[in-house]
Amino acid sequence: MARRRNDPVQARSESNLSHDGRGVIKLNDKVYFVDGVLADEEVIFTPFNKKRGQFTGRLEELVKVAADRVDPPCEYFGVCGGCALQHLAPAAQIKFKAQTLKENMARIGRVEPKTWLKPLQDELWHYRRKARPGVKFVPKKGGVIIGFREKASSYLTSLKSCLTLDKKISDLLPALHDLFAASSIYNQIPQIEVAAADNAVAMVVRHLAPFNADDLDAMEAFAKQHEVQLFLQPGGLKTIHPHFPVSPEPLYYELADYNLKLEFLPSDFLQVNGKVNEKMVAQAIEFLELSEGDRVLDLFCGLGNFTLPLAAGGASVLGVEGEQSLVERALHNAKINNLPEAQFSCANLHLDGAEKDLPAKGFNKLLIDPPRSGAELIVEAYVPILQPELIVYVSCNPATLARDAATLVHKHGYVLEKAGAIDMFPHTAHVESIAVFRKG
Ligand SMILES: C[S@@+](CC[C@H](N)C(=O)[O-])C[C@H]1O[C@@H](n2cnc3c(N)ncnc32)[C@H](O)[C@@H]1O
Repeated sequence: MARRRNDPVQARSESNLSHDGRGVIKLNDKVYFVDGVLADEEVIFTPFNKKRGQFTGRLEELVKVAADRVDPPCEYFGVCGGCALQHLAPAAQIKFKAQTLKENMARIGRVEPKTWLKPLQDELWHYRRKARPGVKFVPKKGGVIIGFREKASSYLTSLKSCLTLDKKISDLLPALHDLFAASSIYNQIPQIEVAAADNAVAMVVRHLAPFNADDLDAMEAFAKQHEVQLFLQPGGLKTIHPHFPVSPEPLYYELADYNLKLEFLPSDFLQVNGKVNEKMVAQAIEFLELSEGDRVLDLFCGLGNFTLPLAAGGASVLGVEGEQSLVERALHNAKINNLPEAQFSCANLHLDGAEKDLPAKGFNKLLIDPPRSGAELIVEAYVPILQPELIVYVSCNPATLARDAATLVHKHGYVLEKAGAIDMFPHTAHVESIAVFRKG
């Protein structure tokens, strides 16, 4: 009898993982992406029919495991979509990320750096100082749950702890769960935003209906007991306000090498891994090869994470950022760190024509740290105007970095000198990277 399409089969996975960390199995002219399978493993899996343009499968049994397979320490691994690679040894994870960067550069960018950098790695656990877990009332799962999305679904995993969240935040999850479950609007709280600063933990509670007086008292008591700054958000970002303490101490993180304190609000963009961020900032600054008279333009500068260390090192620098509130924070950070020479301005760097409003000359070096969509307009239209001698590009998406690298190298004649992966998000498949381009 012919085998039904969804009968389990034994097969060997390819020697590479998919870009999102799944095992790749070729079977009967089809390519299956199977969660939980690593490279070069012999497995039994159930092949599924094509869905959303992809063949997937379910791992049933590991027959012969890869040498770099480890036991995932988190009890939620496999269900929670927060991590994809806990079953792979950390050294192999960063190898996978370096390989992903390499493949993107070759396939999309048709470029190869003169030197591949040793990847940056640091804290592996409890590194995440910023996150936005979902909250939902799910009677079938026992009531209010807090957590990240499950893998390949819109359901939330109910987390009582998390090994990647900052430990102080992870430890709060059970008490937070009780707090929300006891609230009068237990089914009207969709999300919290948490931030672990160097001086305090803060959380913003988004709520769709008003809390009553008892709820507000309970939240104040929670904030006091756990020494948390608790903010409420009844509407859009502008409605965020402190609940307790009423006038919280400003949150900050330090960049100790530069003797800097950067203040931020709990809803601001923040590089999530503090230790890796310190290394990344130092590396970017080293690669800018600063010398007397250099002027650096820092695009997508956020609250001044690179701009201020550059200014502290004596460079003349202008940071440009799209969010006005972050520009204000960057200016404030320049002031409290006594760096009036650091300048900032606000511009939408993805908007057609934005290149005409940026300085046409006067900056010989460029630092770019765009969002996942990359910096297409900047490399296409602005780089030929400014013609910087050196460009350091920090990226959270190797595909858009590779696309932009192709423009810089093949269209504008830059040389890709070096590139490397950065493990900003251990145990996830996200790839942070850095690349250095010199004018040819
Ligand atoms: C990856 S973050 C980097 C921020 C900063 N360099 C840091 O290290 O903290 C990207 C930044 O680009 C900003 N951004 C996103 N879209 C933008 C746009 N269209 N124009 C200008 N800035 C934008 C975001 O607000 C964010 O601050």
